[in-house]
Amino acid sequence: MFGDNQIFAAPLAGITDLPFRRIVREFSPAAPLVTEMISCHSLVGGHKNCLRNFDRYDDEGNVGAQIFGADVDLMRDAAKILADAGAKWIDINMGCPVPKVATRAGAGAFLMRDHKLAEKIMRAVVRAVDVPVSIKTRLGWDDEHRDWRDLVDIAADCGVRFAALHGRTRSQLYVGPANLPDVHDAPIPIIANGDIKTADDILRAEKLGYSGAMIGRAMLGRPWALRAITRGVAPENIGDVVLRHLMYSIEYYGERTAVPMFRKHAAWYCVGMPHSSEFRIRVNTISDADELKNEICKFWGCVECA
Ligand SMILES: Cc1cc2nc3c(=O)[nH]c(=O)nc-3n(C[C@H](O)[C@H](O)[C@H](O)COP(=O)(O)O)c2cc1C
Repeated sequence: MFGDNQIFAAPLAGITDLPFRRIVREFSPAAPLVTEMISCHSLVGGHKNCLRNFDRYDDEGNVGAQIFGADVDLMRDAAKILADAGAKWIDINMGCPVPKVATRAGAGAFLMRDHKLAEKIMRAVVRAVDVPVSIKTRLGWDDEHRDWRDLVDIAADCGVRFAALHGRTRSQLYVGPANLPDVHDAPIPIIANGDIKTADDILRAEKLGYSGAMIGRAMLGRPWALRAITRGVAPENIGDVVLRHLMYSIEYYGERTAVPMFRKHAAWYCVGMPHSSEFRIRVNTISDADELKNEICKFWGCVECA
Protein backbone atom coordinates (compact mmCIF):
# COMPACT_ATOMS: atom_id res chain seq x y z
CA MET A 1 0.00 0.00 0.00
CA PHE A 2 1.18 3.54 -0.80
CA GLY A 3 2.77 5.49 2.07
CA ASP A 4 1.16 8.60 3.59
CA ASN A 5 3.27 10.83 1.35
CA GLN A 6 1.86 9.15 -1.77
CA ILE A 7 -1.81 9.87 -1.01
CA PHE A 8 -2.54 13.33 -2.42
CA ALA A 9 -5.42 15.71 -1.73
CA ALA A 10 -6.73 16.84 -5.13
CA PRO A 11 -7.14 20.50 -6.04
CA LEU A 12 -10.82 21.44 -5.69
CA ALA A 13 -11.83 24.99 -6.63
CA GLY A 14 -13.94 26.60 -3.91
CA ILE A 15 -12.95 23.87 -1.43
CA THR A 16 -9.20 23.26 -0.95
CA ASP A 17 -8.57 26.80 0.28
CA LEU A 18 -6.18 27.54 3.13
CA PRO A 19 -8.71 26.80 5.95
CA PHE A 20 -9.62 23.43 4.38
CA ARG A 21 -5.96 22.52 3.86
CA ARG A 22 -5.27 23.41 7.50
CA ILE A 23 -7.88 20.94 8.68
CA VAL A 24 -6.74 18.22 6.23
CA ARG A 25 -3.18 18.74 7.45
CA GLU A 26 -4.19 18.02 11.05
CA PHE A 27 -5.15 14.49 10.02
CA SER A 28 -2.51 13.90 7.36
CA PRO A 29 0.80 15.56 8.27
CA ALA A 30 2.75 13.97 5.42
CA ALA A 31 0.20 14.12 2.60
CA PRO A 32 0.89 16.23 -0.48
CA LEU A 33 -1.98 18.77 -0.76
CA VAL A 34 -2.79 20.92 -3.80
CA THR A 35 -4.29 24.42 -3.71
CA GLU A 36 -7.38 25.38 -5.67
CA MET A 37 -6.48 26.34 -9.24
CA ILE A 38 -5.11 29.88 -9.34
CA SER A 39 -5.49 32.07 -12.44
CA CYS A 40 -2.13 33.28 -13.78
CA HIS A 41 -3.83 36.56 -14.79
CA SER A 42 -5.23 37.16 -11.31
CA LEU A 43 -1.99 36.18 -9.58
CA VAL A 44 0.40 38.19 -11.73
CA GLY A 45 -2.05 41.12 -11.74
CA GLY A 46 -2.10 40.91 -7.92
CA HIS A 47 -5.92 41.11 -7.92
CA LYS A 48 -6.82 42.20 -4.40
CA ASN A 49 -10.26 40.57 -4.26
CA CYS A 50 -8.71 37.10 -4.48
CA LEU A 51 -7.15 36.24 -1.11
CA ARG A 52 -5.36 33.17 -2.42
CA ASN A 53 -3.17 35.42 -4.56
CA PHE A 54 -1.43 36.40 -1.31
CA ASP A 55 -1.17 33.02 0.46
CA ARG A 56 2.21 31.94 1.81
CA TYR A 57 2.97 28.25 1.97
CA ASP A 58 6.09 28.12 4.18
CA ASP A 59 4.30 26.60 7.18
CA GLU A 60 1.94 24.35 5.26
CA GLY A 61 4.21 21.36 4.74
CA ASN A 62 4.13 19.61 1.37
CA VAL A 63 1.77 21.86 -0.61
CA GLY A 64 1.73 22.23 -4.38
CA ALA A 65 0.23 25.35 -5.92
CA GLN A 66 -1.80 24.87 -9.07
CA ILE A 67 -1.90 27.47 -11.85
CA PHE A 68 -4.12 27.70 -14.88
CA GLY A 69 -3.92 29.83 -17.98
CA ALA A 70 -2.91 29.86 -21.63
CA ASP A 71 -0.41 32.72 -21.69
CA VAL A 72 3.15 31.35 -21.57
CA ASP A 73 4.76 34.42 -19.98
CA LEU A 74 2.05 34.85 -17.37
CA MET A 75 2.18 31.15 -16.48
CA ARG A 76 5.97 31.43 -16.05
CA ASP A 77 5.63 34.54 -13.85
CA ALA A 78 2.78 33.01 -11.83
CA ALA A 79 4.90 29.93 -11.15
CA LYS A 80 7.75 32.14 -9.90
CA ILE A 81 5.43 34.05 -7.55
CA LEU A 82 4.10 30.82 -6.06
CA ALA A 83 7.53 29.23 -5.67
CA ASP A 84 8.71 32.43 -3.94
CA ALA A 85 5.66 32.20 -1.66
CA GLY A 86 6.89 28.80 -0.47
CA ALA A 87 4.95 26.33 -2.64
CA LYS A 88 6.84 23.02 -2.58
CA TRP A 89 5.96 22.29 -6.18
CA ILE A 90 4.02 23.89 -9.04
CA ASP A 91 1.19 22.05 -10.73
CA ILE A 92 -0.12 23.05 -14.17
CA ASN A 93 -3.84 22.52 -14.73
CA MET A 94 -4.42 20.61 -17.98
CA GLY A 95 -7.76 19.06 -17.14
CA CYS A 96 -10.33 21.67 -16.08
CA PRO A 97 -13.34 21.14 -18.37
CA VAL A 98 -15.50 24.16 -17.47
CA PRO A 99 -16.23 26.33 -20.53
CA LYS A 100 -14.93 29.52 -18.88
CA VAL A 101 -11.49 27.89 -18.58
CA ALA A 102 -11.30 25.20 -21.29
CA THR A 103 -13.06 26.81 -24.23
CA ARG A 104 -13.27 30.56 -23.67
CA ALA A 105 -9.80 30.97 -22.15
CA GLY A 106 -8.07 28.12 -24.05
CA ALA A 107 -6.61 26.87 -20.74
CA GLY A 108 -7.13 23.81 -18.50
CA ALA A 109 -8.36 20.85 -20.55
CA PHE A 110 -7.89 22.82 -23.77
CA LEU A 111 -4.13 22.23 -23.43
CA MET A 112 -4.88 18.57 -24.21
CA ARG A 113 -5.94 19.79 -27.68
CA ASP A 114 -2.97 22.08 -28.20
CA HIS A 115 0.14 20.11 -27.28
CA LYS A 116 2.40 22.78 -28.79
CA LEU A 117 1.09 25.42 -26.42
CA ALA A 118 1.14 22.92 -23.53
CA GLU A 119 4.79 22.22 -24.32
CA LYS A 120 5.71 25.92 -24.37
CA ILE A 121 4.03 26.46 -21.01
CA MET A 122 5.71 23.44 -19.42
CA ARG A 123 9.18 24.39 -20.70
CA ALA A 124 8.79 27.99 -19.51
CA VAL A 125 7.55 26.99 -16.06
CA VAL A 126 10.17 24.26 -15.54
CA ARG A 127 12.91 26.71 -16.51
CA ALA A 128 11.57 29.47 -14.25
CA VAL A 129 11.42 27.68 -10.89
CA ASP A 130 13.75 25.58 -8.75
CA VAL A 131 10.93 23.48 -7.27
CA PRO A 132 9.48 20.44 -9.10
CA VAL A 133 6.74 20.95 -11.68
CA SER A 134 3.82 18.56 -12.26
CA ILE A 135 0.78 18.51 -14.52
CA LYS A 136 -2.75 17.36 -13.83
CA THR A 137 -4.57 16.06 -16.86
CA ARG A 138 -7.24 13.70 -18.13
CA LEU A 139 -7.36 10.73 -20.53
CA GLY A 140 -7.92 13.12 -23.42
CA TRP A 141 -10.45 15.57 -24.87
CA ASP A 142 -13.05 12.94 -25.83
CA ASP A 143 -13.33 9.26 -26.80
CA GLU A 144 -11.74 9.93 -30.20
CA HIS A 145 -8.76 11.69 -28.60
CA ARG A 146 -7.54 9.61 -25.67
CA ASP A 147 -3.97 10.84 -26.10
CA TRP A 148 -2.88 11.37 -22.48
CA ARG A 149 0.26 9.37 -23.15
CA ASP A 150 1.45 11.82 -25.86
CA LEU A 151 1.06 14.70 -23.44
CA VAL A 152 2.90 12.80 -20.69
CA ASP A 153 5.77 12.04 -23.09
CA ILE A 154 6.04 15.76 -23.93
CA ALA A 155 5.86 16.60 -20.22
CA ALA A 156 8.73 14.20 -19.46
CA ASP A 157 10.80 15.78 -22.23
CA CYS A 158 10.14 19.25 -20.74
CA GLY A 159 11.42 18.16 -17.33
CA VAL A 160 8.02 17.82 -15.63
CA ARG A 161 8.56 15.50 -12.68
CA PHE A 162 5.19 13.74 -12.36
CA ALA A 163 1.61 13.84 -13.61
CA ALA A 164 -1.76 13.27 -12.01
CA LEU A 165 -4.11 11.47 -14.38
CA HIS A 166 -7.89 11.78 -13.94
CA GLY A 167 -9.40 8.67 -15.53
CA ARG A 168 -12.04 10.52 -17.54
CA THR A 169 -12.03 12.51 -20.77
CA ARG A 170 -12.92 16.20 -20.92
CA SER A 171 -16.27 15.37 -22.48
CA GLN A 172 -17.13 13.06 -19.57
CA LEU A 173 -16.77 16.00 -17.15
CA TYR A 174 -17.25 14.31 -13.75
CA VAL A 175 -19.90 11.80 -14.80
CA GLY A 176 -19.65 8.03 -15.20
CA PRO A 177 -17.03 5.76 -13.72
CA ALA A 178 -13.37 6.80 -13.92
CA ASN A 179 -11.30 4.36 -15.96
CA LEU A 180 -7.59 4.29 -15.13
CA PRO A 181 -5.22 2.90 -17.78
CA ASP A 182 -2.11 0.83 -17.10
CA VAL A 183 0.85 3.22 -16.70
CA HIS A 184 3.72 0.79 -16.11
CA ASP A 185 5.74 2.11 -19.06
CA ALA A 186 5.07 5.86 -18.54
CA PRO A 187 8.29 7.92 -18.56
CA ILE A 188 7.47 9.80 -15.31
CA PRO A 189 5.57 8.80 -12.16
CA ILE A 190 1.79 8.97 -12.60
CA ILE A 191 -0.66 9.65 -9.76
CA ALA A 192 -4.08 8.01 -10.09
CA ASN A 193 -7.14 10.23 -9.78
CA GLY A 194 -10.87 9.73 -10.19
CA ASP A 195 -13.33 7.94 -7.88
CA ILE A 196 -10.68 6.77 -5.44
CA LYS A 197 -12.60 6.15 -2.23
CA THR A 198 -11.39 2.89 -0.68
CA ALA A 199 -8.19 0.99 0.12
CA ASP A 200 -9.11 -1.43 -2.70
CA ASP A 201 -9.19 1.46 -5.19
CA ILE A 202 -5.69 2.39 -4.05
CA LEU A 203 -4.42 -1.18 -4.37
CA ARG A 204 -5.88 -1.36 -7.89
CA ALA A 205 -4.02 1.84 -8.83
CA GLU A 206 -0.80 0.41 -7.41
CA LYS A 207 -1.18 -2.74 -9.53
CA LEU A 208 -1.68 -0.60 -12.65
CA GLY A 209 1.72 1.01 -12.11
CA TYR A 210 0.71 4.31 -10.45
CA SER A 211 3.09 5.96 -8.01
CA GLY A 212 0.40 7.48 -5.82
CA ALA A 213 -3.31 8.21 -5.57
CA MET A 214 -5.13 11.54 -5.47
CA ILE A 215 -8.41 11.88 -3.57
CA GLY A 216 -10.97 14.49 -4.63
CA ARG A 217 -14.67 14.46 -3.80
CA ALA A 218 -14.25 11.79 -1.12
CA MET A 219 -12.82 14.62 1.02
CA LEU A 220 -16.03 16.69 0.96
CA GLY A 221 -17.24 16.77 4.55
CA ARG A 222 -14.45 14.29 5.34
CA PRO A 223 -11.15 16.16 5.55
CA TRP A 224 -9.81 13.07 7.35
CA ALA A 225 -10.51 10.94 4.23
CA LEU A 226 -6.87 10.54 3.14
CA ARG A 227 -6.04 8.86 6.42
CA ALA A 228 -9.40 7.10 6.75
CA ILE A 229 -9.07 5.39 3.37
CA THR A 230 -5.75 3.74 4.18
CA ARG A 231 -6.10 3.28 7.94
CA GLY A 232 -9.84 3.24 8.53
CA VAL A 233 -9.68 5.89 11.28
CA ALA A 234 -12.23 8.70 11.56
CA PRO A 235 -12.36 11.37 14.30
CA GLU A 236 -14.52 10.68 17.34
CA ASN A 237 -15.90 14.20 17.57
CA ILE A 238 -16.82 15.40 14.12
CA GLY A 239 -18.48 18.52 15.56
CA ASP A 240 -15.14 19.68 16.95
CA VAL A 241 -13.58 19.30 13.50
CA VAL A 242 -16.45 21.28 11.95
CA LEU A 243 -16.02 24.04 14.55
CA ARG A 244 -12.28 24.25 13.96
CA HIS A 245 -12.79 24.39 10.19
CA LEU A 246 -15.30 27.23 10.71
CA MET A 247 -12.89 29.06 12.99
CA TYR A 248 -10.05 28.78 10.44
CA SER A 249 -12.42 30.06 7.73
CA ILE A 250 -13.41 33.08 9.84
CA GLU A 251 -9.74 33.83 10.59
CA TYR A 252 -8.97 33.74 6.87
CA TYR A 253 -11.98 35.35 5.17
CA GLY A 254 -13.57 37.33 8.01
CA GLU A 255 -17.02 36.53 9.40
CA ARG A 256 -19.13 38.18 6.66
CA THR A 257 -17.63 36.07 3.89
CA ALA A 258 -16.82 32.93 5.87
CA VAL A 259 -20.26 32.21 7.34
CA PRO A 260 -22.24 31.99 4.07
CA MET A 261 -19.28 30.26 2.41
CA PHE A 262 -19.28 27.62 5.14
CA ARG A 263 -22.88 26.49 4.44
CA LYS A 264 -21.76 24.01 1.77
CA HIS A 265 -19.18 22.49 4.13
CA ALA A 266 -21.77 22.19 6.93
CA ALA A 267 -24.07 20.41 4.45
CA TRP A 268 -21.33 17.94 3.45
CA TYR A 269 -20.29 17.26 7.04
CA CYS A 270 -23.81 16.19 8.05
CA VAL A 271 -24.56 13.89 5.07
CA GLY A 272 -26.25 10.68 6.19
CA MET A 273 -26.88 11.84 9.76
CA PRO A 274 -30.34 11.89 11.33
CA HIS A 275 -32.12 15.30 11.03
CA SER A 276 -29.48 16.55 8.59
CA SER A 277 -32.01 18.15 6.24
CA GLU A 278 -33.48 20.30 9.09
CA PHE A 279 -29.92 21.26 10.09
CA ARG A 280 -29.08 22.28 6.51
CA ILE A 281 -32.23 24.40 6.21
CA ARG A 282 -31.43 26.24 9.46
CA VAL A 283 -27.77 26.77 8.54
CA ASN A 284 -28.74 28.23 5.16
CA THR A 285 -30.48 31.15 6.87
CA ILE A 286 -27.65 32.01 9.29
CA SER A 287 -25.19 34.85 8.68
CA ASP A 288 -23.94 35.29 12.25
CA ALA A 289 -20.86 33.30 13.30
CA ASP A 290 -21.99 32.70 16.92
CA GLU A 291 -25.37 31.47 15.75
CA LEU A 292 -23.69 29.08 13.31
CA LYS A 293 -21.38 27.80 16.06
CA ASN A 294 -24.40 27.18 18.31
CA GLU A 295 -26.19 25.21 15.59
CA ILE A 296 -23.08 23.10 14.99
CA CYS A 297 -22.70 22.44 18.73
CA LYS A 298 -26.39 21.51 19.08
CA PHE A 299 -26.29 19.20 16.06
CA TRP A 300 -23.12 17.30 16.98
CA GLY A 301 -23.05 17.84 20.75
CA CYS A 302 -19.50 19.20 20.54
CA VAL A 303 -16.99 18.50 23.29
CA GLU A 304 -15.62 22.06 22.96
CA CYS A 305 -19.01 23.60 23.77
CA ALA A 306 -19.99 21.12 26.50
C1 LIG B 1 -15.91 21.17 -7.16
C2 LIG B 1 -14.70 20.69 -7.90
C3 LIG B 1 -13.64 21.57 -8.08
C4 LIG B 1 -12.50 21.16 -8.77
N1 LIG B 1 -11.45 22.01 -8.91
C5 LIG B 1 -10.32 21.61 -9.54
C6 LIG B 1 -9.19 22.48 -9.64
O1 LIG B 1 -9.19 23.61 -9.15
N2 LIG B 1 -8.10 22.00 -10.31
C7 LIG B 1 -8.06 20.73 -10.86
O2 LIG B 1 -7.05 20.34 -11.44
N3 LIG B 1 -9.10 19.90 -10.74
C8 LIG B 1 -10.21 20.31 -10.09
N4 LIG B 1 -11.25 19.43 -9.94
C9 LIG B 1 -11.09 18.02 -10.36
C10 LIG B 1 -10.60 17.17 -9.17
O3 LIG B 1 -9.33 17.57 -8.74
C11 LIG B 1 -10.55 15.68 -9.55
O4 LIG B 1 -9.73 15.54 -10.68
C12 LIG B 1 -11.93 15.11 -9.88
O5 LIG B 1 -12.90 15.53 -8.94
C13 LIG B 1 -11.89 13.59 -9.94
O6 LIG B 1 -11.46 13.05 -8.70
P1 LIG B 1 -12.54 12.45 -7.63
O7 LIG B 1 -13.39 11.46 -8.39
O8 LIG B 1 -11.69 11.84 -6.55
O9 LIG B 1 -13.35 13.62 -7.16
C14 LIG B 1 -12.42 19.84 -9.30
C15 LIG B 1 -13.49 18.96 -9.11
C16 LIG B 1 -14.62 19.38 -8.43
C17 LIG B 1 -15.76 18.40 -8.24
